[in-house]
Amino acid sequence: MKGKKVSESQTIMTEMIMPNDANPMGNLMGGNLMRWMDIVGGIAAGKHCEAHVVTASVDNVSFKKPIHVGDIVTLEASVTRAFNTSVEIFVEVFVHDIKGQNPRKSNTAYFTFVALDDKKKKPIKVSPVIPLTDEEQRQYEGASRRREVRLILGGRIRPEDAKDLKELFANI
Ligand SMILES: CC(C)(COP(=O)(O)OP(=O)(O)OC[C@H]1O[C@@H](n2cnc3c(N)ncnc32)[C@H](O)[C@@H]1OP(=O)(O)O)[C@@H](O)C(=O)NCCC(=O)NCCS
Repeated sequence: MKGKKVSESQTIMTEMIMPNDANPMGNLMGGNLMRWMDIVGGIAAGKHCEAHVVTASVDNVSFKKPIHVGDIVTLEASVTRAFNTSVEIFVEVFVHDIKGQNPRKSNTAYFTFVALDDKKKKPIKVSPVIPLTDEEQRQYEGASRRREVRLILGGRIRPEDAKDLKELFANI
C-alpha cells in the first residue's frame, strides 16, 4: 500500500466553551473534552485510512488546569504511525481566552483507531505513515513501544512478547 504523509490527514478543530459544556463550577467537563478529542482524532484517522474507523483505545488523559466557560480550545490531531489495521493518533489541546491571552497546552493523548470495511464489520489494512520532520520521526519510533504497552494492558499480548519494549530496556 502507498504511504501517506502526516500532513495529509492532520486535523484541527476549534470550539468555544459554552455554559452547557461546563460543570456546576463553570469549568469544561472532562468528558466533553474527551468527546472532542475522540472526534478530531477519528477524523484524522478516517482521512489517513480513507475508511470508517472506530476507537479501540485511549491512553492516559490528565487534566492539569481548569478550562473556563468562554475559553477557546483548539484540538490538533496527527497520525503518528499505522500498523496493520490500526493507526495511532496524537491529539493535542491548546487553550486561550477570547482575547488570545493566557495561551497554554492543556492536554494530550494517544488514541488508537481501527479501520473497518464499508460494511463496518471487518478490520481492513491501512496505509503506512511517511514521517518527514524530526518530531514526526520521534513520534513514529515511539509508537510501536506505546502500542505494546497498551496491548499488554488490554490483555492482548504477553509482556514477554513485547519485543520493542524489551529492546529499549536492554539498551538502558
Ligand atoms: C476495535 C475492534 C474493531 C477490534 O476488533 P478485533 O476483533 O479485536 O480485531 P483484531 O483482533 O483484528 O484487531 C484489530 C486491530 O485492533 C487493535 N486493537 C484491538 N484492541 C486494542 C486495544 N485495546 N488497544 C490498541 N489496539 C487494539 C489490534 O492491535 C489490531 O491492530 P493491528 O491490526 O494494527 O495490529 C473491536 O474491538 C470493536 O469493534 N470495538 C468497539 C469499537 C467501538 O465501538 N468504539 C467506540 C467506543 S464506544
